Amino acid sequence: MAGLFISFEGGDGAGKSTQLALLAAWLREQGREVVTTREPGGTDLGRSVRELLLHGDDVDERTEALLYAADRAHHVTTLVRPALARGAVVLTDRYLDSSVAYQGGGRGLTAERVEELNLWAVDGLLPRLTVLLDLDPTQLPARLTGAPDRLERAGAEFHHRTRQAFLERAAAHPERFVVLDAARPVEEIAAEVRERVAALDDAEGAR
Ligand code: TYD
Repeated sequence: MAGLFISFEGGDGAGKSTQLALLAAWLREQGREVVTTREPGGTDLGRSVRELLLHGDDVDERTEALLYAADRAHHVTTLVRPALARGAVVLTDRYLDSSVAYQGGGRGLTAERVEELNLWAVDGLLPRLTVLLDLDPTQLPARLTGAPDRLERAGAEFHHRTRQAFLERAAAHPERFVVLDAARPVEEIAAEVRERVAALDDAEGAR
C-alpha cells in the first residue's frame, strides 16, 4: 500500500493535536501503520531546535525561518520519507504551511520567499491532504493553557496576519486543503476529517 502524508495546520490552540490523535486511532483500527509526528521537534535534533525556537533568546526573523526550515529538512529526510516509503500514513502536527503563515505572513518575510526556502529544504515533498483548523485568534486566550511560548506572545496583529496567510494559502491550493471551523464540536470535526481521508483512499484505490 502506498504511503499517505497528511498535515494538520492552524493557529495555536486550534485543536490540531486532538484531531491528529483521533484520526490516528481511526486509521490504526483499520490496520494501517500510522506515524504521528510534529514540527518543530519531530526528531532528536529537532527537539533541540524546538527548545531554542520556543524558549531560547530572541532571534531575527531570517534566523527563525532558517531554524524552522532546518528542523523540517532533517525531519523529512530521517523520519517522514522513510515512513512513506514503507507504506505508512504519516500525520504531522504542522508542516511547511506553518512557516509560510508564521514566518511569511506573521513575520512579514512574504509567502513566496518562505515557500521557496522550504520547498528546497524538503526537496519538494508536499502532503496529499492538509487539514486547516481555522480559529478566530480573538478566541485564543480562553483556549490556551500554560505559560505562553515565544510565538504565542507575539501579539494579536501577528496572529491575525498568520490566520490570513493560512486562509490565502488554502484558497490557492483547494486540491490539497480542507478548511474546518475549529470552534465546532471536536467529534463533528473528526468525522469530517475521516470523510476526507476516506475519499482520498478511495480515489487512490481507483487509480
Ligand atoms: P506548536 O508546537 O504546534 O504549538 P501549538 O501547540 O501552540 O500550536 O508550534 C510551536 C510554535 O511554532 C507555534 O507558535 C507555531 C510556530 N511555528 C512557526 O512559527 N513556524 C513553523 O514552521 C512551525 C512548524 C511552527
